[in-house]
Amino acid sequence: MEEIKVSSTKGRALTYAELLPQLESLVAGENDFVANLANISAALKQALPYASWVGFYLAKGSQLVVGPFQGKVACTRIKIGSGVCGAAAEQKKAIIVPNVYEFPGHIFCDQDSKSEIVVPILKNGNVIGILDLDSSEFDSFSEIDADNLKRVADIVVNLTEVDDRR
Ligand code: SME
Repeated sequence: MEEIKVSSTKGRALTYAELLPQLESLVAGENDFVANLANISAALKQALPYASWVGFYLAKGSQLVVGPFQGKVACTRIKIGSGVCGAAAEQKKAIIVPNVYEFPGHIFCDQDSKSEIVVPILKNGNVIGILDLDSSEFDSFSEIDADNLKRVADIVVNLTEVDDRR
């Protein structure tokens, strides 16, 4: 079993700088996609205390279906184009929502959620899923999160190459 260790006192960019290599090593040598997504979501939740929910939705036809996550029970299916997750998948870009009450069509899976970030997972230009983080505080996510979570999305794309189910 691996342990994730990050210092939360050095600032967010350094937290990610410590975390990303640990994510790489966490999934190295394991070719089960679901197992790897489960451990990545757990590692992110552990390392980023401002995230109340961390998880993946995987694209299936015109929908996103919930995948491995950490946090409260969530909506199972989201139409591509709906909510923050569906918008990020449709627009193929990261979306930072400082105040979920101000995002038209935001889907309330968790009543405690106040801010959110969603990063699409793009393989050869196609959306294969999204990575979603929620926070129970307003304005929790920044471009630092977006940049680094895109790197996590890249790790996930590489994992699809070693899993014959994807
Ligand atoms: N709030 C999201 C739904 C997913 S949950 O937050 C886990 C949205 O608007 O797409």
